[in-house]
Amino acid sequence: MKITKICCIGAGYVGGPTMAVIAKNNPHIKITIVDINAERIAAWNDDDVSKLPVYEPGLADIVKETRHKNLFFSTDINTAIDESEMIFISVNTPTKTYGKGKGMASDLKHVELCARNIADIAKTDKIVVEKSTLPVRTAQAIKSILENTGNGVTFDILSNPEFLAEGTAIDDLLHPDRILIGGESEEAIDSLASIYASWVPREKILRTNLWSSELSKLTANAFLAQRISSINAISELCEHTEANVNEVAKAIGMDSRIGSKFLKASVGFGGSCFQKDILNLVYVARSYSLNEVANYWEQVIIMNDHQKRRFSDRLIKTLYNTVSGKKIGFLGWAFKKDTNDTRESAAIYVADHLVSEQAYISVYDPKVSAVKIQTDLNYLNTRTEADNLKYVESSNTPYEALKDAHAVAIMTEWDEFKTYDWVRIYKDMKKPAFIFDGRNILDKSSMETIGFEYYSIGQ
Ligand code: UDX
Ligand code: ADP
Repeated sequence: MKITKICCIGAGYVGGPTMAVIAKNNPHIKITIVDINAERIAAWNDDDVSKLPVYEPGLADIVKETRHKNLFFSTDINTAIDESEMIFISVNTPTKTYGKGKGMASDLKHVELCARNIADIAKTDKIVVEKSTLPVRTAQAIKSILENTGNGVTFDILSNPEFLAEGTAIDDLLHPDRILIGGESEEAIDSLASIYASWVPREKILRTNLWSSELSKLTANAFLAQRISSINAISELCEHTEANVNEVAKAIGMDSRIGSKFLKASVGFGGSCFQKDILNLVYVARSYSLNEVANYWEQVIIMNDHQKRRFSDRLIKTLYNTVSGKKIGFLGWAFKKDTNDTRESAAIYVADHLVSEQAYISVYDPKVSAVKIQTDLNYLNTRTEADNLKYVESSNTPYEALKDAHAVAIMTEWDEFKTYDWVRIYKDMKKPAFIFDGRNILDKSSMETIGFEYYSIGQ
């Protein structure tokens, strides 16, 4: 099928950047990104591109280049579905917070709503592309809804998982390691492959069956997260011995069979994918009674939760076993640098733990708003909204966040944190002044020379 118009349902961290890059490389295809969230669509349409809802280096330039030419943002979902030959489903699939599979399975209600919407509207044949990360065999569910409620049109379902990482999304999309397309119809796969082939070398475009494609996405994320939990497990051992986790990571990473990437010990991984995808894998394995498989992968999450808890416990213990009434300055709230996304960020859990011990927290993050910080805390339901507001404030500058603080906790590895005037920060803090570097980004000896008591992960 020749594709002239594409619709993408879901204008989020995946849909937005992915479609912008497809639009840039396929100027003859009209792409409409739709969303039920009118505020989000308005932000995508804002003339001031610094107000785009997703912060991602390089994204604003591509949006400026393509928007109103072949890239459009709209709330008119039905028109976009109706006119397009290809529809991407890129909606959120959070972990269920209710009912069967609560806390484990993915909530597929948004995906199902999309499928029903497409079935209602479509009058011509469509290729439906699953872009959201989904549990294995979701394509089957989408297919069954489309075939049983559609108007007699033919739907081809493809699984095309996205491997971009936030913060480097544009580069990842422009230079992907591979593009994965799973499906039954060779013709439908060809249609999607030729869209990518306008900028990705053909040999990097892999074709598999639907289920392999779906499972590969979960597996890739599980393997990546497993590396972080593995090095974090070693970091705890390092703290009890004379070993240094950075040196260990370097030494093992030079083994070409292991490789050097994803071996940075940290306060714990966050993001919308790792935990959700592993929980999915665990849930699916348990549903087939594969308990050893499920327990094996679940341990990656258990280790990550332990790492976050261990970080706050160590901070409390070092501050003479009490943080009650003390100000703790947080540098960073996002789950990693170069993004304004905070989903599952370690900062949320560490803050929650410290506030339960009556600490006052002052946060500075270059891209995360004060409202977002409160929303994240309220979502945990640990205490009242009024109490979260009382204990956690957001500062406009790092110096304000750290003034009179007993300790600094570095939660995100933003590059600018390394460039601050740490002598000034030291002077303004309570003494002894502590740094808990959850990202190992500062230099221990320079900080100690200034006068700080410096603690990092795995040293
Ligand atoms: C991840 C996958 O990398 C990507 O392929 C997939 O499409 C979506 O999930 P993302 O969550 O955006 O991407 O970011 P990633 O760079 O993987 O980082 C995830 C978390 O792990 C962050 O909190 C990061 O700080 C942490 N991390 C990463 C470490 O703690 N140590 C590392 O060595 C690497
Ligand atoms: P991701 O990181 O997977 O892109 P986001 O939460 O950033 O997730 O984006 C998903 C988007 O999908 C949200 O903007 C949400 O409003 C939108 N969405 C969810 N359900 C629907 C739906 N049924 N129709 C249209 N848009 C939807």
